[in-house]
Amino acid sequence: MLNKMKLWTTSKNSAGLEERIEKVKKHPIPAHIAIIMDGNGRWAKKRALPRIAGHHEGMKVVKRITKMASQLGVQILTLYAFSTENWKRPQYEVEYLFKLPGEFLGTFLPELIEENVQVKMMGHKEHVPAHTLAAVEKAIYDTKDNNGLVLNFALNYGGRSEIIEAVKKVTDDVKNGIINENQMNEELFSKYLMTNQLTDPDLLIRTSGEIRLSNFMLWQLAYTEFWFTDVLWPDFREEQLIEAIEGFQHRSRRYGGL
Ligand code: FPP
Repeated sequence: MLNKMKLWTTSKNSAGLEERIEKVKKHPIPAHIAIIMDGNGRWAKKRALPRIAGHHEGMKVVKRITKMASQLGVQILTLYAFSTENWKRPQYEVEYLFKLPGEFLGTFLPELIEENVQVKMMGHKEHVPAHTLAAVEKAIYDTKDNNGLVLNFALNYGGRSEIIEAVKKVTDDVKNGIINENQMNEELFSKYLMTNQLTDPDLLIRTSGEIRLSNFMLWQLAYTEFWFTDVLWPDFREEQLIEAIEGFQHRSRRYGGL
């Protein structure tokens, strides 16, 4: 039987990394970090491997970064795992991407539980294959009583469609007299979004050198600090997460004020 402890300790932090962790923890840690995990395909291409090999390597990085985020005291980690636009990819790649949550959770759920991680998902559940949804829902259920890091998978998620769905629900609630249109403000509208239980991201990281949002959390990123890195997601390591947080700690967040 695989020893649970062994899995987490395989990536035991080096002394240098421990020092950086202690240093970065002396300053405010972003409560919510959102990541656009980009560059899996290019990582694979560089190695003459199929694109799905890059996604598989990317999945392993999810584990490392989740563990580090938890260790650093991050409260929410939102990961863009599949966008509403990713359906345009070849069918074999789409099918593979939807296998990854099951593989990830099938392997690491006991450790996530041990690490006090709470799994969540945001996205349009329809069209997500039943086996993927079942794996994610099981993980959500099994971790519901945890109160550590929230690991929020954005799966079949798109920022624009999220807003349109919210507008439809608002319209229904106005029609049904549940709310009055004059009550509408940013705070109330936020409650209709898929992130209604979550705070907005403090830090957005996008890997692979692409500098765009790709329909990710369009409402929620209004005042988020952005960190772009050329590192491809499968090469992203604990050190790069810390570097992004250090960058964040040097920003001055004014929210439009002085
Ligand atoms: C973008 O890279 C990445 C994705 C569309 C998928 C991201 C998924 C993972 C990292 C694995 C998810 C793991 C779990 C546990 C859900 P790309 O394929 O667009 O890369 P490219 O731009 O280099 O082609």
